[in-house]
Amino acid sequence: MTQNTLSSDDILAVLATVSDPVTGVSLASEGQIQSYVLKDGLLTLTLTIPREQAEILSSLCPSASRQLETLFGIQKANIILTAHRKTPLHVQSKASSLPLLSHVKTIIAIASGKGGVGKSTTAVHLAVGFGLAGLKTGLMDADIYGPSLHRMLGIQNKPKVIEGKIQPINKWGIKAISLGMMIHEKDAMIWRGPMVMGAINQLLRDVDWGMLDVLFIDLPPGTGDAQLSIIQKTHLTGAIIVSTPQDIALIDVRRAVSLFEKASIPIIGLIENMSYFCCPHCGNKTDIFGYTGARQEAEAIGVPFLGEIPLFADIRTSGDKGIPLLLDTPHSESTRSWQHIICTLIQSLRLPTHNETSH
Ligand SMILES: Nc1ncnc2c1ncn2[C@@H]1O[C@H](COP(=O)(O)OP(=O)(O)O)[C@@H](O)[C@H]1O
Ligand SMILES: [Mg+2]
Repeated sequence: MTQNTLSSDDILAVLATVSDPVTGVSLASEGQIQSYVLKDGLLTLTLTIPREQAEILSSLCPSASRQLETLFGIQKANIILTAHRKTPLHVQSKASSLPLLSHVKTIIAIASGKGGVGKSTTAVHLAVGFGLAGLKTGLMDADIYGPSLHRMLGIQNKPKVIEGKIQPINKWGIKAISLGMMIHEKDAMIWRGPMVMGAINQLLRDVDWGMLDVLFIDLPPGTGDAQLSIIQKTHLTGAIIVSTPQDIALIDVRRAVSLFEKASIPIIGLIENMSYFCCPHCGNKTDIFGYTGARQEAEAIGVPFLGEIPLFADIRTSGDKGIPLLLDTPHSESTRSWQHIICTLIQSLRLPTHNETSH
């Protein structure tokens, strides 16, 4: 089935089969199709619904998606509900109806309350770990004030632009794009409002990712307009918050958490970075920040705790060398700490790994 052969009537017929057992309402009876796009087996369907029905109708989405996935040619169906009533457009042209990053199944923002806590280091290692697990993974550096992922991945070349689309760079088994690949870092530092937004829009709109299982977005630190814009424009699956132990209890982390909560984006969990110092000679652990209990603190804020990454000298040197540790020293203790978090995450997101997909 292609975009041309899938009609809005087909979609409505399937949506009508899933209704609320108490009230009898369905996405077909209450919603209007605003747009739909079927591309590479991924259906992205946007429905406008009455705001007061939002709770009931969103609870129907998982089974409605599963029903849509039984249609020929649809491997995955994403239903996006919006409560703003617009003129219904039963079939829109592809260019105008394609929501940003619609061909990406899972989008995860990596966020932090402030800079320098290891957000980019985390983004690199999670992305490379997901790639090693056989998932088609992309990494977007949206930290327009301090793009660094190109350096951490050892990428020196500029991305090509083909037919107006920026081609991400393939490196270490993932696709990556960073503003740092396109402009001089000092230029980004002096950018102001509209230029920043323009750059973010371009990153979200003009990168040719192809079909991805997962896209990690390294957000700028903090909770300003740039972060909000990305949250509002993409269908984020969830956010991971990175914090150091001495910052975990601080207002910045809570503010980052509430930014996502306000936008109804689930917090996938909190990663504590630089949690303790691990002596490379004797293996002795030192709590140099004199603080333990990140797990409890995460619970107090109401977010799952995904794990901790100690302060290891080789984590910094790998960033400087541009070779992710998972590939450089696959059996080191620091690599094991990343692997532990990567496994937890893949399981909690219920993503199929290479072994499962190869059956
Ligand atoms: N667990 C760690 N152990 C040692 N160095 C680390 C660790 N995490 C991050 N770093 C180093 O700290 C610096 C800041 O990390 P970075 O990921 O750039 O932070 P952010 O993106 O939050 O600003 C980098 O030089 C990085 O290599
Ligand atoms: Mg960074």
